[in-house]
Amino acid sequence: MSRRIAILTGGGDCPGLNAVIRAAVKTARGYGWDVYGVRNGFDGLRVSDTFRLSRERIRGIIHTGGTILGSTNRVDPFAVDVNGQAEDQSELVLKNFKNEGFDALISIGGDGTQAIAQKLHERGLPVVAVPKTIDNDVSATDVTFGFDTAVETACDAIDKLHPTAESHQRVMVVELMGRTVGHIALHAGIAGGADVILIPEIPFDVDKVCDAIDRRYNAGREFAIVVVAEGAEPANDKLQLNGQSKDIMQSPLTNRIAHYLQQKTGKVVRGMVLGHLQRGGSPTTNDRVLGSRFGAAAVRLVREEKYGQMVALRGNAIVSVAITDAIAQLRRVDPEGDVVQTARDLGISFGD
Ligand code: F6P
Repeated sequence: MSRRIAILTGGGDCPGLNAVIRAAVKTARGYGWDVYGVRNGFDGLRVSDTFRLSRERIRGIIHTGGTILGSTNRVDPFAVDVNGQAEDQSELVLKNFKNEGFDALISIGGDGTQAIAQKLHERGLPVVAVPKTIDNDVSATDVTFGFDTAVETACDAIDKLHPTAESHQRVMVVELMGRTVGHIALHAGIAGGADVILIPEIPFDVDKVCDAIDRRYNAGREFAIVVVAEGAEPANDKLQLNGQSKDIMQSPLTNRIAHYLQQKTGKVVRGMVLGHLQRGGSPTTNDRVLGSRFGAAAVRLVREEKYGQMVALRGNAIVSVAITDAIAQLRRVDPEGDVVQTARDLGISFGD
């Protein structure tokens, strides 16, 4: 039976999205089905902005970052901003989906996107989900594509900070993405040989970070790398109450930490925020392969009409799980887990 599949990417972009799209289109074409791209996440369904993904449209994209479909993390069809008021336009999405003759939707996104997908599914939309995020915080899957590339980029940045830190005997504080979890910081920090890693799952005392730096300099290693996850949580209010100027108080966490470390340790400290560089670039081979596996598996789920399910990686097997289970909670770093313990064994301080 011929089918017409819609596919969209929602939320922040991430390396590997195009590999998923390509694999889904190729797999569907193998079944004789047609795939249509939806522009800019669910908004493309709301305004009926779709286009056929021909063989030409997916040529030469496996190694590219971003998404050929466009994405947004600002539009929720259940709460569309109309003159400052939130309006539920989900019926419009369902109507357009039907009018365009689609049989199923493949929704590629993180927890926010999949929460919308699940709500539409409960209103009758046949949807299959693919987890995506550099943050690696989607529960029910061991890993999401994009994470490996982001860690690679972050580690490369730390590698580049090492020689300048050492040459100038400085402390370099680098802030990495991850939203409210610390997977990127933890992995890039270990791989990049950081001395301190601060993550949301382990609240830190900035004075303990100073102690770790002092110990290192006193041992003759006169430079240090401090990795800060953007969501890192101070365990106390020392960073606010250090007599810092209002400007410093309002600056990102990293600047506040850098300022405090410089005052307290007397070392020269520089801070930097790596930012969206972590979302860009060509996906690693791991992310290309995982993205391809997820894309092909999503189409197989459509063939089996397993709607309301999300593809996931467990161990080395691709499985499917209920979207509701996947979005029930975030996957956070386990403070008692082996990766954190390994970092501690390597002498890395978490500031606790
Ligand atoms: O979820 C991916 C992510 O890059 C987070 O790590 C970060 O906090 C956020 O998105 C940034 O969002 P935006 O692109 O909207 O600034």
